Amino acid sequence: MAQATTTDWSPHSWRATEALQQPTYPDEEELEEALDYVSGLPPLVTSWEVENLKEELGRAARGERFLLQGGECAESFADCRAEVITSRLKILMQMSLVLTYGLNTRIVRVGRFAGQYAKPRSSDTETRDGTTLPSYRGDIINGAEFSAETRRPDPNRLGEAYASSSLTLNLVRALAEGGFADLRHPEYWDLDFMQHSPLAEEYHAIVDAIEDTLGFLETVTNKKLDSLEGVSFYTSHEALLLPYEEALSRSVPHKEGIYNLGTHLPWVGKRTNQPDKAHVEYARGLQNPVGLKVGPDMTPSRLKTLVRTLDPDDEPGKLTLISRLGVDKVGDQLPQLVRAVQDIGHTVLWISDPMHGNTKKTEDGTKTRHFDDILGELEQAFDVHAAENSHLGGVHFELTGENVTECIGGARGLSEADLGKAYESHVDPRLNYEQSLEMAFSIVRKYRQLAG
Ligand code: PEP
Ligand code: CO
Repeated sequence: MAQATTTDWSPHSWRATEALQQPTYPDEEELEEALDYVSGLPPLVTSWEVENLKEELGRAARGERFLLQGGECAESFADCRAEVITSRLKILMQMSLVLTYGLNTRIVRVGRFAGQYAKPRSSDTETRDGTTLPSYRGDIINGAEFSAETRRPDPNRLGEAYASSSLTLNLVRALAEGGFADLRHPEYWDLDFMQHSPLAEEYHAIVDAIEDTLGFLETVTNKKLDSLEGVSFYTSHEALLLPYEEALSRSVPHKEGIYNLGTHLPWVGKRTNQPDKAHVEYARGLQNPVGLKVGPDMTPSRLKTLVRTLDPDDEPGKLTLISRLGVDKVGDQLPQLVRAVQDIGHTVLWISDPMHGNTKKTEDGTKTRHFDDILGELEQAFDVHAAENSHLGGVHFELTGENVTECIGGARGLSEADLGKAYESHVDPRLNYEQSLEMAFSIVRKYRQLAG
C-alpha cells in the first residue's frame, strides 16, 4: 500500500493514487498556470502557529483543553465581508466564553474558515428541467448558479480562494489580537438580536460574573491583566481539492518536513477517507495536525489502519478523529471505534461532529437538521467516551453568526414551516446564532452532569 513509509511521501505523491471528488478542468494548461501562481504566493499561516496548535490539540487529547471547531459548511466569495466574518467570530467567542466558564478548561478555537471553499458532492452532475451541468463543488471550483458558464470548473478561482482566505484571515487576526477580543469587554461580541433572546439572561449572568472576577483580580494584584486582551483563532478546512493543497504545501527554514501553510488544521472528509486513496496519502506526510472524519461506514479495522497511517509515531496532537455517526448510530458504533484506537495503543483527540450524520430532507426536499438530534448525538458521544474510559475532547459544528432558519428546534422552537424565512445555505444547514449559543450551554450541562 502507498502509505507504508513516510520516506516515499511528497506533497505530490497522492498523484500516483486515485483521487476522489476532484473536478475535471476543461483546460489543463490554464490549471497549471493557476497552480503556479498560487505556489508562488506567501503562506497564509506559519509553521510556529501550526506547531502551537498541535501542542494545544495534544493537551486536548489529555483532557487539559477543549476544542471548539466551528464555522460554515462552505464559505462563499460573496460572504467575504466584514459583517459576516465579524458575526461568525462573535458567536465563536461567545460559545467559547460559555465553555471556558462552564467547563473550567481552556478552549482551543478553530474556525471552519479562511479556506473552506471546496465541497464533496454525491453526484458529479446535476439535472434540472432536462439540463445536466457539473455539480456545484464550492467557490474554489465553480459557482452555485445553475448555468453552463458558472458551473464550469474555473482555475482562476484558485487564486480567488487564496485571496478570500487571506482577506478573511487578515480581519480575524486583527480582531482576535486586540480590543475586540478583550475579555474585559465581552459586550463587543453581542449580536443585535441578543437582547431579544431567551438565552440572554443566562449568558449575561456569566459575562457579569467574569467581569466581577477580573475586576477583583486587577484590583488586588494592582496589575492590568494584559494577556486578556487577545485570543487565538486557528483555521481549518477540508483538504479536498488536492492540487490547491499541494500548491500551499511548503518546507520552511530550520524545520524538517512539509507544512500545509494554507491552513492550520486540514482535515480529510468522510467521502475521501479511504486508506489507499489520494486524500489520506496527501495528509499522512504533513507536519500539520490533521483531522479525519469518521462516519457510519467506518470499521474498527479500517480505523486502525488509518490511525497508523496518519499518526505513525503516535505524536501528541497529530490526529483528531471527528466522529459524525448520527443520533441513531452513535451509541452502537462509537464504542467499538474508540476501543479500536485503544487496542493499538494510540492517543488521539476524539471530537464529535453531531451535524453531518443528522441531515434530513423535509417533504419539499429542503435539507435540514433537528436541534434535538444534534444534541442527542453529542450527549451520547460524551456518554460513550465516559463509559469507555476515554473522553470527548471537543466539538465540531456548522454554524453561522447570522439569524438564519436552516436547522429545526432550539429554544425559539423553529419549525419546518419557518425554514423558508431565512434559508441561505447552498450546502448544509447551519445552526443559527441562538441555536449555537444554546448548544454551548447544553455542552456545559452535559459535562457537569458527567463530572458529577
Ligand atoms: C463537511 O464537513 O462539510 C462534510 C462534508 O462532512 P463529512 O465529510 O463528514 O460528510
Ligand atoms: Co457540511
